[in-house]
Amino acid sequence: MCGIVGFIGKKDASSILIEGLSKLEYRGYDSAGVAIFDGERINVTKCKGRLVNLENKLQEEPLKGTLGIGHTRWATHGEPSDLNAHPHSNEDETISVVHNGIIENYIHLREWLISKGYKFVSETDTEVIPNLIDYFYNGDLVDAVMKAVAKMEGSYAIGVICSKEPDKLVAVRKDSPLIVGLGKGEFFIASDIPAILNHTRDIYLLNDKEFVVMTKDGVKLLSQEGEEIKRDIYHVTWNADAAEKGGFEHFMIKEIHEQPKAIKDTMTSRVMPGKPITLDKITITKEQIENIDKVYIVACGTAYHAGIVGKYVIEKLARIPVEVEVASEFRYRDPIINERTLMIVVSQSGETADTLAALREAKANGARVIAVTNVVGSSVSREADDVLYTWAGPEIAVASTKAYVTQLIAMYIIALFFAENKKTLSESEIEEIKEAMLILPEKAKEVLENKETIQKFASKTYMHKDMFFLGRGLDYAVAMEGSLKLKEISYIHSEAYAGGELKHGPIALIEKGTIVIAGATQEKLYDKMVSNIKEVKTRGANVLGIAFEGHTEIEKTVDSVLYIPEVNDVLSPVISVIPLQLLSYYMAIQKGCDVDKPRNLAKSVTVE
Ligand code: M6R
Repeated sequence: MCGIVGFIGKKDASSILIEGLSKLEYRGYDSAGVAIFDGERINVTKCKGRLVNLENKLQEEPLKGTLGIGHTRWATHGEPSDLNAHPHSNEDETISVVHNGIIENYIHLREWLISKGYKFVSETDTEVIPNLIDYFYNGDLVDAVMKAVAKMEGSYAIGVICSKEPDKLVAVRKDSPLIVGLGKGEFFIASDIPAILNHTRDIYLLNDKEFVVMTKDGVKLLSQEGEEIKRDIYHVTWNADAAEKGGFEHFMIKEIHEQPKAIKDTMTSRVMPGKPITLDKITITKEQIENIDKVYIVACGTAYHAGIVGKYVIEKLARIPVEVEVASEFRYRDPIINERTLMIVVSQSGETADTLAALREAKANGARVIAVTNVVGSSVSREADDVLYTWAGPEIAVASTKAYVTQLIAMYIIALFFAENKKTLSESEIEEIKEAMLILPEKAKEVLENKETIQKFASKTYMHKDMFFLGRGLDYAVAMEGSLKLKEISYIHSEAYAGGELKHGPIALIEKGTIVIAGATQEKLYDKMVSNIKEVKTRGANVLGIAFEGHTEIEKTVDSVLYIPEVNDVLSPVISVIPLQLLSYYMAIQKGCDVDKPRNLAKSVTVE
């Protein structure tokens, strides 16, 4: 949802900003731009489309300077165009701003500024920011930014430079991510860590409404009252390579292949044979667990689908009622929340605006919140009472894959933790599930070794316009995720249905040759699922079944079958989702789609 970078130091700002933006392109790629101070004035180059367009423009007409800001855009207010691209400036181009977020009261501010004689050239909400700063500017950029921000409602991470104060970069955040990179005689701002990792591993994590003032000599953090804030340096330990493609053609396929490791890492030191589940950063007590009468799992997109699996397993293993909701609905529907409610928010980025708002709503009503997130120091991790990190490593592809399987692992860990505390399972039952979990990385590797079957299926079916995913129980939860993946990156229309629901309407869509992917891993539901497969086969569907190895009776019912290694039924989503991820990937490749940067999407949705 837009990425911003900023640099001040002695090196050429242009190349550093472009390099940073290339690491942030996953956040949006409708347009890109930079503003660089050349010693006298600020020069802006920006254009519609991918970053490469900006790079070409800068090659033709380089911008010189050692202070600058950059932006890659995911359009909200105003179509993707050269004019709406950031940075935005005031009329005399002395102040330049990059912004990630939405200024909700921009219409009011714009009218107010117009009444004061200001002129606007773009359709964006952002353009009010440099003009507001200009309005308040009286020889002190920090003061002007503070006064401008006090007028702004909504979400923002902004970087500001001003030609009247040439050795300064000012930044501030509220509800949009922003970090500060601390180099030697050079400093950075960025929406995400990979953007600066080639330059420094030492960063400051910012809280809402904290201001950053950078010069070549150092960085100051200020509160909105202007008081200096002391902050510990956070040292990034993961490798920059983890955010590179490492020989794979796309981030998505690389991340699919990283799943065995991500699953293992997420269990490390938490799931151990013969030992209770160990959750270092979780302080919820046994009494508090016993007191919970309702769990809400709230998330968006793929994380929501992980939450659906969470509902199945927490209810099954820990016998606590669970509701799963998409965050954008939850936050506006006046849900029943009290001190006996536990909310689990699931968010890869930890910055999704709706999820964060739901978390705040729950806390304001007295609920305890556990965050399941992949990003250390992200907003949800800081605002929740407890955090369970998914150790998936940086996920760059817009389509979430390794984050999903690690979110599933987090759901099992939480369910087992509750089951242990509430004694809803015997020790031997818990041990059995833990043992089965510990072999999941090996099983995931086996699925990846068998990817040719899926590749062949994709090459035969990629030209279809519609596909259906069916399943019952946990297979239905996985069907939803498979369907989302397919839509997202291959633009094939698809629907996921619970097997038993089909005859209540959707079966009318099945005709000769319709592709149906049917998951049949759940032993108790197997026969029922086979009946549902027969229902669509009778109407002409071409069915690919997904079943555990050895369960060959399915061959009588389907057109083709993909066998996956058998695991404990309750853990099947971790394994059965992998062929569906591969299917969407190969379909997208066959269709020539841009896998890592699907149209209209951004990795991190930090606006409502
Ligand atoms: O960062 P989050 O997990 O909060 O993101 C939630 C969704 O935006 C995300 O899962 C989205 O659906 C992905 N593009 C799915 O592949």
